[in-house]
Amino acid sequence: MNWNRKSWQKFPITQQPQYSAEDFTKIEEIKEQISNFPGIVSKTSIQNLRSSLVKVQRGEAFLLQGGDCAESFSGFNTQNLTNYFRLFLQMNAVLMEGFKKPVVKIGRIAGQYAKPRSSDFEEINGVKMPSYRGDIINSIEFNEQARKPNPNRLLETYFHSVATYNFIQSLARDGFASFSNVFKWNEEFLSVANRNTEFERIINKINNHINFFQNCGYSPSNSEKLQQADFFTSHEALLLHYEEPFVREIDGKNYCLSADQLWIGDRTRKITHAHVEFLRGIENAVGIKVGSSTDCHELVEIIKAVNPKNEEGKVILIARMGAEKINEFLPPIVENISNSGVGVIWQIDPMHGNIVKAENGYKTRRVSDISSEILSFFKIHKELGTYAGGVHLEMTGNDVTECLGGFQNIIDSDLSKRYHTHCDPRLNSSQSLEIMLQLVNDIC
Ligand code: PEP
Ligand code: CO
Repeated sequence: MNWNRKSWQKFPITQQPQYSAEDFTKIEEIKEQISNFPGIVSKTSIQNLRSSLVKVQRGEAFLLQGGDCAESFSGFNTQNLTNYFRLFLQMNAVLMEGFKKPVVKIGRIAGQYAKPRSSDFEEINGVKMPSYRGDIINSIEFNEQARKPNPNRLLETYFHSVATYNFIQSLARDGFASFSNVFKWNEEFLSVANRNTEFERIINKINNHINFFQNCGYSPSNSEKLQQADFFTSHEALLLHYEEPFVREIDGKNYCLSADQLWIGDRTRKITHAHVEFLRGIENAVGIKVGSSTDCHELVEIIKAVNPKNEEGKVILIARMGAEKINEFLPPIVENISNSGVGVIWQIDPMHGNIVKAENGYKTRRVSDISSEILSFFKIHKELGTYAGGVHLEMTGNDVTECLGGFQNIIDSDLSKRYHTHCDPRLNSSQSLEIMLQLVNDIC
């Protein structure tokens, strides 16, 4: 198919940093280094995710994906990662209870450091600086030095990602994922949440099931399944100089060992461009963001390019239209895709079409819009007879104040209290769990 890990370099590319000629020499050195480093994930885990996704595509499992909009080096610490994984496990339990299906868990983590931006420059009080493009490229502080792209950040990204991956995998294996912990966290949530009888009922059902298993004699100490969780990783494959050296040929196939799944963003999704070229050559599961301006014909071409043999468990279409637009724009795309005969998994990203500016200038999102877009997504698929396969959220396990609404009733004037994101506003742990409960309550 005339592809190699460098062939993307011959194609037009957007959303890249302005590296100097000197930087490029350094980048080549770093790429050489990374190509000799161990991968972050393994071929086996990439294949295991593909097998799990086959079940999602057949409607036998549900897909939960989430994490920061942009990971940061400064946010890398034990507490943040522990809070994040704990939340993921709580959400997992709610979805399993509701859908009565296994949940495939993919983090936006251990590599989610590169961001597309709507403008190359940011202006504050008349001062103009290059935009922050994620910690893999430059630094968020608003000064000349910080905003200069720095190739060494590729190496820093590698080491942060490896450490993040290893820590989360240790949590997934060492009993932290045990159902007895989920029981305890559920009780904690109920003790602080505003009492909502529907949500309480769902949580009590989960805890009753856990009790039942424990009464039957299954306990984390005698059942591996009760204490372990499969957890995969993903990020946007935006900075291809970083992705390229992770491609390894194993048994005649190319695997990109930077993450189990990689996705292509709404702004770089062009059939004639470098990002599609890169993704079409690798075995990993591939996500494709689908915004309201998506050209259906081109989308089918992209799917055929990345999945020429129409294999199951390979392509995830991530709809991100906005609560207002989804009802108009998604149904024709879903129908077109079904009619074209290409097999895909449909997932909803209810975050990126729902950004609003608060009166005090903060970029935010309303929990009510997010829930509403999810609900529309499920209704649309039900009407069309297709499977609503999963959700994709920007979330943190911390108690931030970045999105409006939820149990805590966060309002505009609260946003400044704990607005810590490096890019888009994330759901906090309570809001994330609440959205899962709402989904299960509405749909199941
Ligand atoms: C993202 O997922 O953070 C993102 C930038 O999404 P999109 O490409 O859909 O705007
Ligand atoms: Co984002």
